[in-house]
Amino acid sequence: MINRIQIQNFRSVRNIDIELGKLNVVFGSNGCGKSNIYKGIQLLSAAADGQFSTHLSDEGGLENVMWSGESRVTVGQPRRIVLSCQTDDFDYEMQIGFPDKLPYPTHFSLDPVFKEENIWIGNSGRRPSSNVLHRKNSAAFLVDIDGHKNAYTDAVYENESIFGHFGEPHKYPEISQVRETMRKWRFYHEFDVSKTSALRTANVGHRSPALFSDGTNLAAAFQTIIEIGDSELLTEILADAFPECSFYCENENSLFAMKMRRKGVSRPLLASEMSDGTLRFLCLAVALLSPRPPSFFALNEPENSLHPLLLPALAKLIVESSRYSQIWLTSHSPDLAELIADHTSFQLYELDNGTGETMIKHRR
Ligand SMILES: Nc1ncnc2c1ncn2[C@@H]1O[C@H](COP(=O)(O)OP(=O)(O)OP(=O)(O)O)[C@@H](O)[C@H]1O
Ligand SMILES: [Mg+2]
Repeated sequence: MINRIQIQNFRSVRNIDIELGKLNVVFGSNGCGKSNIYKGIQLLSAAADGQFSTHLSDEGGLENVMWSGESRVTVGQPRRIVLSCQTDDFDYEMQIGFPDKLPYPTHFSLDPVFKEENIWIGNSGRRPSSNVLHRKNSAAFLVDIDGHKNAYTDAVYENESIFGHFGEPHKYPEISQVRETMRKWRFYHEFDVSKTSALRTANVGHRSPALFSDGTNLAAAFQTIIEIGDSELLTEILADAFPECSFYCENENSLFAMKMRRKGVSRPLLASEMSDGTLRFLCLAVALLSPRPPSFFALNEPENSLHPLLLPALAKLIVESSRYSQIWLTSHSPDLAELIADHTSFQLYELDNGTGETMIKHRR
């Protein structure tokens, strides 16, 4: 379980230190920084997956994501984004900054650079004896399975985490474990259900215990739950949400397609004919009832475009999946929080960005 997340100088977050519980609900007005924190956590996972630079480019690049508030920036102090997470088993930190000035012309002067990267194993603080990965720019030291500290001589890309090109997991099992844990976290924020979205067409499928973050393997992931997951619970929650409808996956020559039967309609309806909210809810249900639940789920405003009548079913989904996974949920819906509270307790955070800097206003 993630016990603590620290984020510095990332978008609207100058410095935030969050202690997490098993189920975490984050509220706040538009622009207060909910999505920024979600994206900060997502960037940690992208780094573990070797996708840091690509992910950061998708987010607008380093100059854009670096905190650009006015206050408390000490002149001469290098600007760095710091992202760290502490779990029951490890403490990982990365520090990202701009490249040093190069003596030759380059188009890459705004590339992100890993200034520092560290892993401390165990839960006993940042002690030299628990520091199994220490990287400063391109120089890295890793502690192997025998406790020997080795200089990491493979090419280290300055704009990518060590995880991106890290081999020999058998030699560095602890570091490999950290990478595997973080890259398996799952993030869901909006599903593109527009007319041309792949969600609305049949797709070649394979057994899929996890829904892709864009939901495009919906039909295959749905069928995977039917075959090896809690199909009863999935059917029950979909029946709660859409009492007049039933859903199934059809497979024609490996093309998987979601279909819906609806009371009063004589033929099955295709995904292309389903409503936006129906498809989004289906995605959430299939994501959260994954037969291989991750240790951590982050959901960004899942209630968007859902009718309030669907909130009890959404709350049930979140409560059920929180039995197996830690959850980070940002929301605009106090009703959803109340419905969750009927079943289980959670940590509540309220964010505020009145001063141009995301702060935790209230927590219980
Ligand atoms: N580099 C940056 N430096 C400072 N502030 C930034 C930076 N990038 C974005 N912001 C601020 O973050 C705000 C957006 O925050 P975010 O998207 O996390 O809001 P949110 O709480 O998710 O809102 P919503 O409920 O509308 O989705 C922007 O309006 C802007 O004020
Ligand atoms: Mg948002």
